[in-house]
Amino acid sequence: MEFEYIRTIEVSRLIQREGVYHKIESGLELALYLIGEAVYAVDNKCPHMGMPLHEGAIVGDQTLVCRYHQWKFDLKTGTSTFAPNIYVKKYETKIEDGFVFVKMPRQG
Ligand code: FES
Repeated sequence: MEFEYIRTIEVSRLIQREGVYHKIESGLELALYLIGEAVYAVDNKCPHMGMPLHEGAIVGDQTLVCRYHQWKFDLKTGTSTFAPNIYVKKYETKIEDGFVFVKMPRQG
């Protein structure tokens, strides 16, 4: 499978340890989190009941807590911290020219 990096938002719009919503051109909705120097991107849809993960909270170094029913996910892997077979899809990111780029399978 081929991949490409999709430009999302300016790094300056990210807020330490707070979720930011971004919808890419394909319609996919992302939750972006800045923790220290690291930027994490996950589907903005909790695997529990599909609620928006950009409204979550960060605890510890890299754990995202869904605000609705407190399911917890490791942002480094996307996996649930209590059930490793449950996960939220996460995407690799890179920062270039002041923007966050997210690695996605190439469309078409
Ligand atoms: S919708 Fe996220 S924990 Fe229920």
